[in-house]
Amino acid sequence: FTCDLIRNFSIIAHIDHGKSTLADRLLELTGTIKKKEVGKNEQVLDKLKVERERGITVKAQTASMVHNFGGKQHILNLIDTPGHVDFAWEVSRSLAACQGALLLVDASQGVQAQTISVFHVAQERGLKIIPVLNKIDLPAAQPERIAAQMQSTFGIDPADIIQISAKTGRGVDQVLQAIVDRIPPPNGTTTRPLKAFLFDSMYDRYRGVISLVAIQDGILKKVRYSVDLVIHHLVSIISGDRIVSCHTNKKYEITDIGILNPEEIPVTSLHPGQVGFIACNMKESSEAHIGDTLHRVGSAVDPMPGFKPAKAMVYAGIFPIDTSDFPKLEESIKRLALTDRSVTIQRESSTALGQGCRLGFLGTLHMDVFRQRLEDEHDANIIITAPTVPYKIVYRDREVYVSNPTEFPDAIEAASKVKEVQEPIVKASIIVPEEYFGDMMDLCFSHRAEELEHKYLDAGTGTESRIMLNCVIPLSEIVTDFFDQLKSRSSGFASFDYEEAGYKSSNLAKMMFLLNGKPVDALALIVHRSHEDAIGKLWVKKLVKVIPRQMYEVPIQAAVGKKIIARETLSAYRADVTAGLYGGHVERKMKVLERQKEGKARMKRMGTVDIDKDAFVEIMRSK
Ligand code: GTP
Repeated sequence: FTCDLIRNFSIIAHIDHGKSTLADRLLELTGTIKKKEVGKNEQVLDKLKVERERGITVKAQTASMVHNFGGKQHILNLIDTPGHVDFAWEVSRSLAACQGALLLVDASQGVQAQTISVFHVAQERGLKIIPVLNKIDLPAAQPERIAAQMQSTFGIDPADIIQISAKTGRGVDQVLQAIVDRIPPPNGTTTRPLKAFLFDSMYDRYRGVISLVAIQDGILKKVRYSVDLVIHHLVSIISGDRIVSCHTNKKYEITDIGILNPEEIPVTSLHPGQVGFIACNMKESSEAHIGDTLHRVGSAVDPMPGFKPAKAMVYAGIFPIDTSDFPKLEESIKRLALTDRSVTIQRESSTALGQGCRLGFLGTLHMDVFRQRLEDEHDANIIITAPTVPYKIVYRDREVYVSNPTEFPDAIEAASKVKEVQEPIVKASIIVPEEYFGDMMDLCFSHRAEELEHKYLDAGTGTESRIMLNCVIPLSEIVTDFFDQLKSRSSGFASFDYEEAGYKSSNLAKMMFLLNGKPVDALALIVHRSHEDAIGKLWVKKLVKVIPRQMYEVPIQAAVGKKIIARETLSAYRADVTAGLYGGHVERKMKVLERQKEGKARMKRMGTVDIDKDAFVEIMRSK
């Protein structure tokens, strides 16, 4: 297949607009997979259990199709992209391997926050965009109105929009034709040295890391014969291509090459414009740097532009419920991380929770998915601490990133040594029907949003018109309850997306929670000073509800530095030690009560508060 017979494309869409369903229809129409029975809706490209349960795509999957156009066989490489905001980075990487994208919009929902962000990424990458309106079979579909919305938002000519139902298959053949007619072929050549773009990776227990590559130039071969003369014997050496990573300079030997159809099909070589997988003795997923350029040992090439490693945005501690399970848990975390290169791992120990790991994730959904996979696939019984974002502590002579509240400088250190504390901020956009606009403004203000702007997505106003609200908001504000509140306050109609926007100086402090006067490290939080009273009060109220009563009274306090912000008292559990004594043994009764009082005092002096793990789980859940 020469380049002119190849098309590399992606489907970009807001979550749930039908990407996976359309991918399945394209695979069926090209005969790549068998047509499924009507009514059966399980998807071919979504593979993880958590993806099926949640109906979201976590891991991008890729498939090559062969189809006949005008008497010529063409290869269409579909680079599937995940649909959630946490994985925006993966979307951007996958798009770098394409020349075009289908911009899919639900004809009943219209343009949503992620439709806009993925459109901009695709446009910045210079991709040819094919606008597609999906779900036109739905009674609530309003194709004309949404087409007008796409025109006003993206400058798309309504005449270019293809209307389809991915569910029934209507119009999908036009999409296939448009891919060939409108998307330009890749422009690689075999005359230049091998240059392969690494855009995704997966992990195989037996072969190690499998990387997905798009060949820019040259030919990548599995088998290479070379002839050597070793002391009069002709020795024929059979080996795979030897390649180098531009990013790490590490060398690898190709052991396996193939294409995904969508199952693996081995091939002996990959040519310019083709997309396929390679295995090359990479042991850990972290070696496969998404966006890296690979070339043959001994020949230099210019790396593909824009390489940027994934950055963890949210950190949390993971601890075993039973402390003795730590070695097993750590092993499970490491095994799972082999398949998920964007997770970072560090050991962490807590006086309250014992030994655990501090993990870094792309976002809270990513964190949830990882936790669920640990529980489903590795049977792990865990506690996960409240998520924290990476703060930047600017000292007089250096900058330090802190992603664990326990490492955050306390008030005394901050006053003497720290110049300022900065927190990560993001540019957020929310799209919502006009009637919820006021609620969304309130939500943004209560989460410290600034630079609020809004505009109408539809020309003119009306009950159905939608508003896009843009603002700058601290990342820490959106990793807690923001998304849930956004959904509940808009009856599920608001959509949301964000992108990193650097760091900003902020008035933050470490809040500690004291039980019986002793700080509990696992409960520490970083709070904005303007919220400290409210957060302190809320948390002590929560704690007093979930911590089991002790034999003695336990004060529960929230403190910032030496200042106590809030306090509740957990009343004593009064064991009825005199229950077994009947009648007139008043003296004995008094004695027993006296002893109980002493015992209580002793325990209090020792400062032992038993918070069992269940209470911790409850606390973390309520967060
Ligand atoms: P993510 O994988 O989470 O990004 O979602 P997605 O965009 O892949 O959406 P998916 O294909 O899973 O479809 C979401 C829902 O919409 C599913 O319940 C589909 O059955 C349904 N759906 C998809 N296309 C159509 C369509 O043309 N008509 C109707 N009525 N429903 C559709």
